[in-house]
Amino acid sequence: MAFTWGVSTAAYQIEGGAAEGGRGPSIWDVFSHEPGRIADGSTGDVACDHFHRYPEDVDLMAGLGIDAYRFSIAWPRIQPDGTGPANAAGVDFYDRLVDALLAKGIDPVVTLFHWDLPQALEDKGGWLSRDTAFRFADYAGLVADALGDRVRMWITLNEPFIHMTLGYATGEHAPGQTLLFGALPVAHHQLLGHGLAVATLRARGAGAVTIANNYSPVWPVGDGDAEAAAAYHALHNRLFTDPLLGRGYPELGLDPSVVRDGDLDTIAAPLDALGVNYYNPTSVRAPSTPDSPLPFEIVPVEGYPTTAFGWPVVPDGLRQLLAWLKDEYGEALPPIHVTESGCAYDGIDDPERVTYLDGHIGAVRAAMASGVDVRGYFVWSLLDNFEWAEGYTKRFGLVHVDYETQVRTPKTSYAWYRDLIRASR
Ligand code: FCB
Repeated sequence: MAFTWGVSTAAYQIEGGAAEGGRGPSIWDVFSHEPGRIADGSTGDVACDHFHRYPEDVDLMAGLGIDAYRFSIAWPRIQPDGTGPANAAGVDFYDRLVDALLAKGIDPVVTLFHWDLPQALEDKGGWLSRDTAFRFADYAGLVADALGDRVRMWITLNEPFIHMTLGYATGEHAPGQTLLFGALPVAHHQLLGHGLAVATLRARGAGAVTIANNYSPVWPVGDGDAEAAAAYHALHNRLFTDPLLGRGYPELGLDPSVVRDGDLDTIAAPLDALGVNYYNPTSVRAPSTPDSPLPFEIVPVEGYPTTAFGWPVVPDGLRQLLAWLKDEYGEALPPIHVTESGCAYDGIDDPERVTYLDGHIGAVRAAMASGVDVRGYFVWSLLDNFEWAEGYTKRFGLVHVDYETQVRTPKTSYAWYRDLIRASR
């Protein structure tokens, strides 16, 4: 089977058009407009103006020669207040986008939830509320009704771990809650929403169904840090994989009353693929103070070059985690797609990004050579975009965006990726 080359984006990070086509507010609209939340005081109101400029962006994708484009649907474009029938103008935008992609021979890969919950649902408890899982499945059904005839691959959730942690445990992301382990019900409700959405998609004859998880190899700093590393590994890597693959939850203190009869079966519905997002490993040591609220402490990974985000560049970490997934889950592991891999660097001539991507694609090849079934690789991201709490200060694109003029300029890495795809045919 041919390997799939792609790029990834997310709605709130590129679309703009925040008040157009009847779109309702999401938690990111509300959060980014609060003073002090975003590094450069910016919002996604306009972002890359992809809402209007998508034909140009699809041309840029066609120029790359990618097989597939992973993008997300803004839930509040489809259901402005999170419930009820589909908003026709919102559906129309994605309808046109999907058709434009198919006209260029690019397969649409649709992420249903990339963190932009309708604010009306957050007002009712967001993912702390069990009801949100059912609202998500309803929404998934509306999108499948509208696009299911043309979409071959569906991703239910993007990085539920990051959304739970930064959104509900530590508060750097929307909705800005700081509940620490009190955020664990968000894990269960997202996973339940995933399982219910899988059933909804299957009932509508959907093609491949998957979820995109963030993974990070966890490295204990010293000999005395193994227990702390195991605790963090359970949280980051196992909490959102064990139950999907039929093992139930790792022991993390999730209140058992949150998990109702039948939920674990719903969550363990068979998947056609597992989406893996990888950026870097995590170094962990035991907490330095006895009264620490967490059983681990995260410290910088030493000894590697870093990106403009300060993230360590460790291509072998991707090989390690792909090998871990295969060793740990064996036959239960579906084929893998690397659904995000990329780095922040400034500049249109970006040899560092070329080195980064070359190293990470090499790591995928090494994992495949050792028997891991990897079917695709998606670069994060097509365009420079709104990088959440960092605003526009971190540039992840293969294509540079001048946010004053919205002029797009392909970077050195764009030409490199295009040539790599061409050469692999
Ligand atoms: C991932 C997110 C994606 C982007 C990259 C840099 O965690 O899924 O939206 O922000 O990080």
